[in-house]
Amino acid sequence: MDRPIGIFDSGIGGLTVVKEVVRLLPFENIVYFGDTARVPYGIKSKDTIIKFSLENTLFLLGHDVKVIVIACNTSSSLALPVIRKHFKIPIIGVIMPGAKEAVYATKNKKIGVIGTRATVNSGAYEQEVKKLDRGIKVYSQACPMFVPIVEEGWTQDDIAYKVAKKYLEPFKKKGIDTLVLGCTHYPLLKSAIQNVMGPGVTLIDSAQQVALEVKHVLAQEGYLRKKRMKPAIEYFVSDEVAIFKNVAKKFLGKELKNIQKVPNV
Ligand code: DGL
Repeated sequence: MDRPIGIFDSGIGGLTVVKEVVRLLPFENIVYFGDTARVPYGIKSKDTIIKFSLENTLFLLGHDVKVIVIACNTSSSLALPVIRKHFKIPIIGVIMPGAKEAVYATKNKKIGVIGTRATVNSGAYEQEVKKLDRGIKVYSQACPMFVPIVEEGWTQDDIAYKVAKKYLEPFKKKGIDTLVLGCTHYPLLKSAIQNVMGPGVTLIDSAQQVALEVKHVLAQEGYLRKKRMKPAIEYFVSDEVAIFKNVAKKFLGKELKNIQKVPNV
C-alpha cells in the first residue's frame, strides 16, 4: 500500500524514530509532523497534551496516512488511550516497546527511566514494566532541561554534560543497570548521558523497537508497501523551517528536503 506512515512529535525528537523506520522499511512513504511552535509538551497539562496530540493526529489523517506513530513519550503516556478511542486507524506509541526492551536488558532488575515531567508523573513506564515483570524496581527522574538543549542543537556542548550531571549524578546512587531514554529527544544526548552514568549502565533507545512494531503492524494489516521504489518523505513543522532544518542536519548528518511550515494545526 502506497499510503504513507504518519509520525508526529512535539519537535525534532521524533526524527530519531523516523531514522529507524527508514532503516527498517526503506520503501515506505512517510509524513512527519513536528509541532515546533508548541514544543515542549512535557511541561504542559494532560488536557493540553491530549488536545495537541488529537490535532496532530487529525493533521496526519489529512495526509491519508495508513498508521500513526506517536514518536513522543509525553503524548504516548497521556494521549494514546484517548487517540485510540477516537480513531480506527492503527496507532503505535513508544512506551510499550521501550519498556519491553528494558525488561529484557536488565540483569539486576533495577531500571531507571528519564523523561519529561509529564511522562514521569504519568507513571506510564512503571505500569508497562510491571505488566511484564512485577519484580522489577523502576526509578524515574524528570529531566526537563534536556528538550530545549536538543531543540537548540547543543547536544555536544559543555552545557549538555553539565545538565546531565546535575540530573543524573544523584540518580546514579539507585544502582540501576538499565536506563530508558524515555523521551525521543534524549537519544541525541546519549554521549552526555552515558558519560555520567558510566559504561555499566545500558541505555535503552526505543526507536528500533518502535520501528519493528511498525513493521509488524503493517504486515499484520496487509499494509506494507510492495513497490521497491524510492519513497516520498515529507516533513511538516508548525514553526520556522530553517531552525528545524539546521538542528536536523546536525544530528542526521544530512540536509532534510521537503520541509514545509504549516500555518496552524
Ligand atoms: N520528544 C518528546 C517526548 O518524547 C517531547 C518532549 C517535549 O515536548 O517536552 O517526550
